[in-house]
Amino acid sequence: MICARFLLLLNLLLCLAQESVQGGSIGFCYGRKGDNLPSPQLVAQIAVKESISKLRIYDYDQNVISAFAGTDISLIITIPNEELSNFQSEQQADNWVNHVLLPLTQSVKIELVTVGVEVITLTPEFSQYVLPAMMSIHTGLTKANLADQIKVSTANSMGVLQSSFPPSSGAFNESIKTAYMQPILDYLKAIGSVYMVNAYPYHAYMAESDDIALDYALFDPKDEVMDSGTNIAYTSLLTAQLDAVYFALEAMGHGELSVIVSETGWPTKGDSDESVANVQNAATYNNNLLMLVQNDTGTPRRPGQPLNAYIFSLFNEDEKTGKESERNWGVFSVDGTSFYYLDIEGTSNGAPQSFNGTGATWCVASPAASNESLEAGLNYACGEGNADCGPIQPGNPCFLPDSYFSHASYAYNSYYQRSGDNSAACNFGGSAMITTKDPSYGACIYPSDALLPSGNVYGSLSTRIQSDAAGLIFIITLVIFAI
Ligand SMILES: *[C@@H]1O[C@H](CO)[C@@H](O)[C@H](O)[C@H]1NC(C)=O
Ligand SMILES: *[C@@H]1O[C@H](CO)[C@@H](O)[C@H](O)[C@H]1NC(C)=O
Ligand SMILES: *[C@@H]1O[C@H](CO)[C@@H](O)[C@H](O)[C@H]1NC(C)=O
Ligand SMILES: *[C@@H]1O[C@H](CO)[C@@H](O)[C@H](O)[C@H]1NC(C)=O
Repeated sequence: MICARFLLLLNLLLCLAQESVQGGSIGFCYGRKGDNLPSPQLVAQIAVKESISKLRIYDYDQNVISAFAGTDISLIITIPNEELSNFQSEQQADNWVNHVLLPLTQSVKIELVTVGVEVITLTPEFSQYVLPAMMSIHTGLTKANLADQIKVSTANSMGVLQSSFPPSSGAFNESIKTAYMQPILDYLKAIGSVYMVNAYPYHAYMAESDDIALDYALFDPKDEVMDSGTNIAYTSLLTAQLDAVYFALEAMGHGELSVIVSETGWPTKGDSDESVANVQNAATYNNNLLMLVQNDTGTPRRPGQPLNAYIFSLFNEDEKTGKESERNWGVFSVDGTSFYYLDIEGTSNGAPQSFNGTGATWCVASPAASNESLEAGLNYACGEGNADCGPIQPGNPCFLPDSYFSHASYAYNSYYQRSGDNSAACNFGGSAMITTKDPSYGACIYPSDALLPSGNVYGSLSTRIQSDAAGLIFIITLVIFAI
């Protein structure tokens, strides 16, 4: 947990004091099914720059892993499902531990080996290999003195549950629970490891959009869902999914196991029947997830329990098949700029945000936009769009830095605020993006109506702005925002 949000010494001390008890953390999945991805070395630089401290990869590629040498980033690596049959004997596992893993651990932090991903639901023909491979790898790690630092587990989808709603009915599928799940859970317990679940409110919503509110899938607390078994109200689908897992584990006698969300996220783009796959919702979902984790909120069944979650994914993967959304889970474009603002360091810690005007949001120029598109957007916003462009005129507080990026950001935000934070108003030919981070600096204040005492104040201000001279507007704006 990063102590980035202290404003006062007291907060700093509190934050430091909490550091030792707070364990929640956010990582990213680094899928590589794309033909245009940055080199692993570049990915390591992007991750460091973005303060990303944990990554999960889907194999044990030595070239990829060694790119993280000398960073503080810790990795989850994977034995792919098709390779599980090669890890059935101690000798095979020892060989891999000593020749592949051990040399890498000299310079790279590796915290967990995932022995297969969603094996029982994706490739059930390999499921017999999972537990023996987990055992032989853990034994190999123990012999190499690595078992204390590197855990062994396997990742499951939510599909291993027979029932997940209401959460208190959570139970593993009857047909796998005794023969497959029980021995794996017993083993996880025996070696002090964790249960890994890939949990996707997006998929649950898409499968049952008639019954599930989008707000609920996006952590917006205005929609609650009651668990009739416990009388607990759930405000998010992800915490309901997690509690279903906790209840299922409890029913197997393993309520003590910690759970890692090994994948979750929201796509930025989809087919025509996937309109909820968009930047807006992806930004909402992932920022609210970050807040849940950074806040150490836990779930109703495990209140306050630190949560470790991995956002899927670092980049879009253009070589994936299936629906358009499958290729668009990335948070970062291949040049390392993010498609939307993501509060990785937890500076806006607080209540969950909705991007429909209830939380404070701003619209700014996208770092990925060209000067040409920013110039066009700026001209539109200040002209036909009637945005308040007084503050970016020479001599006024938002004139410097004198760049298209900075001026477009101010103008875009003004236009967006006037349209009541309507997401459609933050587009400008794709050169704009919504953020929950206040872009104001020095005396240059970016308005946000959610920060004003009431919507009316801003409404009347914008009417006045249109009929007043730029200098006067500017003074009014300063006075209002200085209050
Ligand atoms: C349980 O697993 C069996 C076998 O994999 C599958 O056919 C069935 O649909 C599953 N049941 C549920 C409720 O997921
Ligand atoms: C935002 O508003 C749109 C249109 O009013 C609605 O369809 C959508 O569900 C809302 N999303 C959230 C997160 O509130
Ligand atoms: C974070 O914690 C505060 C105070 O405990 C709470 O009011 C807020 O809703 C929490 N936010 C999230 C996203 O859980
Ligand atoms: C865009 O313009 C700024 C000055 O406004 C300049 O510093 C920057 O290099 C330009 N970017 C590109 C990609 O041309």
